[in-house]
Amino acid sequence: MAIKAVRGVHDILPSEAEKWRCVETTARRVFEAYGYEEIRLPIFERTEVFARGIGEATDIVQKEMYTFEDRSGESLTLRPEATASLLRAYIEHGLFVLPKPVKLYTIGPMFRYERPQAGRYRQFHQVNVEALGDDHPALDAQVIAMLIEFFRGLDIVQQLKLQINSLGDSNCRPVYRERLIGYFRTHMARLCEDCRERAERNPLRVLDCKKPECRPVLDGAPSVHDSLCGDCARHFLDVQNYLKAMSIPYEISPRLVRGLDYYVRTTFELTATDLGAQNAVAGGGRYDGLIELLGGPADAGIGFAIGIERVVLLLSGSDENAWGRKRPLALLIPLGDEALKQLLPVAQAVRSRAIPVELGDGDRKLRSELERANKLGVAWAVIVGETELARTEAVLRDMKSGEQQRTPLGELAQKLIALGGQR
Ligand code: HAM
Repeated sequence: MAIKAVRGVHDILPSEAEKWRCVETTARRVFEAYGYEEIRLPIFERTEVFARGIGEATDIVQKEMYTFEDRSGESLTLRPEATASLLRAYIEHGLFVLPKPVKLYTIGPMFRYERPQAGRYRQFHQVNVEALGDDHPALDAQVIAMLIEFFRGLDIVQQLKLQINSLGDSNCRPVYRERLIGYFRTHMARLCEDCRERAERNPLRVLDCKKPECRPVLDGAPSVHDSLCGDCARHFLDVQNYLKAMSIPYEISPRLVRGLDYYVRTTFELTATDLGAQNAVAGGGRYDGLIELLGGPADAGIGFAIGIERVVLLLSGSDENAWGRKRPLALLIPLGDEALKQLLPVAQAVRSRAIPVELGDGDRKLRSELERANKLGVAWAVIVGETELARTEAVLRDMKSGEQQRTPLGELAQKLIALGGQR
């Protein structure tokens, strides 16, 4: 029996790869214009990086990590996200001595043992962006603006909604946490099993439950905004004012808690109106204190990650024709080995100008090569047989009109390069 890919893990076929490239190129173009530089990180880390970084009580650390022991008995984990890894590198390489904020991005696969469904995979890909060492609310607004700019660059911003929230900090969040625990205790019987289990361990996460039975209890829960200390309330208000100054529409969502424990103050998410249950295409927030927790300086930080699979799903909903397969300009058809020797350097010269052409091997009949030219969808078939060899020329056949013209072999490469330039 043929071997299949692992559940929740998928191949990106050539027909999709163009969209992936477009997402990645747009990310690089937009983020680099804002001064972000690329960092490339390992796929696996010591388990501790994520256990400490993401939080022991989170679903990710408790249930979703691909953790294994290597041959020396060390516990390693395939990265479920990039932020903790990136901060590990920031600390390890002393990047904190650079002018602040230090602005970095990274693109690559992440791994979470989640229940696979449309838009949710076990290996998925993120563009991850972090700005480190600056806690000014204008940075929060600029980071969000940059994320919006990325989606504008892909022309899908109109399908998205921006939600923002503030979760307070180490000063005011414990107070809110206690209020929430107290509230949930009095409503325990009306919560789903998962939430009952989470209510004491990770009460903020209960706010994020999507089950209808929990809805009434969640609707009545105390709002984080009533518990924010003066500094956090001011920070959140400033973020909103800066967003307004940039004309960025947003919604305040007091229940936007996110699934990772490191967030303080600003959190945000971009959701798509028509992506079904897995509709978050990007999410992030501030995590002041996390760098210190991982053994580094007391630098602030904020960032986000974009789920590439979900963005590609959105692009698939847009104009499908825009993503057509790139067709080669021409099929070069040598009839015999001598003709092949003439056409090999021509193909090489045209391809060196980044113009795609296909080349036959000289063994096939003209008729079957012309059929292949049709299937490939090329604009031109270039034929060199015995007669052409004797006259040192090639026949160029326009595959649409069937009209033919002749070109000296010595000028063929230039002619094809010129035709390629006109496309
Ligand atoms: P996250 O919300 O866990 O945040 O993931 C960010 C995005 O990755 C999600 O909005 C979603 O688009 C995509 N994603 C997450 N899980 C899956 C999955 N199983 N399948 C497909 N796509 C998925 C983080 O990872 C944080 N590190 C973001 C961050 C950076 N916060 C601050 N800096």
